[in-house]
Amino acid sequence: MTRKTPDQFRSARWFAPDDFRSFGHRSRMNQMGYSAEDYIGKPVIAIINTWSDFNYCHAHFKQRVEDVKRGILQAGGFPVELPAISLSEGKVKPTSMLYRNFLAMETEELLRSHPVDGAVLMGGCDKTTPGLLLGATSAGLPSVYVPAGPMLRGNWHGKVLGSGSDAFKYWDERRAGNITDKDWGEMEVGIARSYGVCMTMGTASTMTALAEAIGMTLPGASSIPAADSNHIRMCAAAGRRAVEMVWEDLTPAKIQTEAAFRNAITVAMAMGCSTNAVIHLLAMARRAGHAISLDDFDAASRKVPVIANIRPSGEKYLMEDFYYAGGFLGLMTRLKPFLDLTQITASGRTWAEELEGAEVYNDDVIRPLDNPIYAEGALAVLRGNLAPNGCVVKPSAAEPHLLRHTGPALVFDDYPALKEQIDRDDLDVTPDTVLVLRNAGPLGGPGMPEWGMIPIPKKLVKQGVRDMVRISDARMSGTSYGACILHVSPESYVGGPLALVKTGDRIAVDIPGRTIHLDVPEDELLRRRAALPAPTPRYERGYGWMFSQHIQQAHEGCDFDFLRTDFGAPVSEPVI
Ligand code: FES
Ligand code: MG
Repeated sequence: MTRKTPDQFRSARWFAPDDFRSFGHRSRMNQMGYSAEDYIGKPVIAIINTWSDFNYCHAHFKQRVEDVKRGILQAGGFPVELPAISLSEGKVKPTSMLYRNFLAMETEELLRSHPVDGAVLMGGCDKTTPGLLLGATSAGLPSVYVPAGPMLRGNWHGKVLGSGSDAFKYWDERRAGNITDKDWGEMEVGIARSYGVCMTMGTASTMTALAEAIGMTLPGASSIPAADSNHIRMCAAAGRRAVEMVWEDLTPAKIQTEAAFRNAITVAMAMGCSTNAVIHLLAMARRAGHAISLDDFDAASRKVPVIANIRPSGEKYLMEDFYYAGGFLGLMTRLKPFLDLTQITASGRTWAEELEGAEVYNDDVIRPLDNPIYAEGALAVLRGNLAPNGCVVKPSAAEPHLLRHTGPALVFDDYPALKEQIDRDDLDVTPDTVLVLRNAGPLGGPGMPEWGMIPIPKKLVKQGVRDMVRISDARMSGTSYGACILHVSPESYVGGPLALVKTGDRIAVDIPGRTIHLDVPEDELLRRRAALPAPTPRYERGYGWMFSQHIQQAHEGCDFDFLRTDFGAPVSEPVI
């Protein structure tokens, strides 16, 4: 392998010349107490740190960044911490998804505009993983991803509690009058006990695992619990490795091949992944220059069973159990028949090499292929006159009797209408009703909020109903469950067929057959379309306005059109 020489470093353009500009760049490094020995001729490694005082999932990043720096220094690099917007999933409104592309742009431009040669990307909470990786892909510098790691299991009265999933579950019990205020208060202090991301197979643990499957983390990194000392050592190792990756010029383009993304889709299916994985992987694959589409997910779903027995698709276990059972590398050994093991990872080695000696230590947590928890993959893609460009459902998390279902629609025009009506005692609804929420898509939401797990009407919760068919152009939390059909594309706000549904229309869903059908004659749909009012703009200035002008639909990954890799000529290196 040819290694770079220091004069080829990108940072050398700022620091090396004997000219007036470089005098300024060096003198201002001196101002901070650094000597030439600290950084001249060394790989300068940006650490993009998505820490904030509001991001509970990244609360340990203030310490962990020091471990990353230690690794970079040990390997002869120069660490530079560059903070980026911290998308705290629960705190950022109206939805963190509104800002995924903001983080992507920020990451790309931070890397492009500064004198850096490589990057360590620190993220984990839901949208931070795709945001950071999208940006690093477009910036093109050697980069390694440091996943925040899952938090410890929740605990309440000796029962294990899982992020999101158990909150939703017990909230329904509370609405049904089965949980006391005291119990509810105790759950509040028991469900999130340490730093780290949601420890169910939500979007965070899905996306960090997919970052690993693509090859952008150190092998084995994504399943290490945040509070485990192995996590600290992984951070230092990632710092060391980032320095080497610069010498080797191991750029994202060399790791993120089409086969790497196909491996990630396989892993997503086997893990019982979050539905959000579809949107993020589509965006990431497209940025990396690959024509991955919804059909690739559905094709994988028909081949690869769900073998990770992690909630919400699984029954019992959480990410901590997954780690003890062999973690990500254990899962990968089970998936060998479906994977292209010639692909390399950030380690510079192939998966075939990395999986040597990897084992599964608990066959109930990481099941053998012949004893899956669900015989097909985690996600199914449906199409029909209600979703011409597709929609997504997680059959493994739905009650089996709803997989084929026909029923009358009950339409909520937007989220405030849903909130206002869903718990009314006089709501005209039965367990057969198909709940429909619209104006919750990328433009209409705006930002496609996680409203897709429409609450079961209180009236039915009290009767013991816990799942119904629900359809929306929203997303849902990866920790959610139920027969929720999501990401309907095109969305209602731009005139997608969801906008035409009326309460009482019959909707037929056939998940095994992959169809979704609105049973209304075509001429009637045309009449309704002609009568549709023009949508009101969501934003008239600022970032939201820009978002509204450029956001793409769900089946395209919700990237901004102008960030697409094939949108115009490549951005050149800055003039210095
Ligand atoms: Fe951060 Fe779930 S809220 S990962
Ligand atoms: Mg989430």
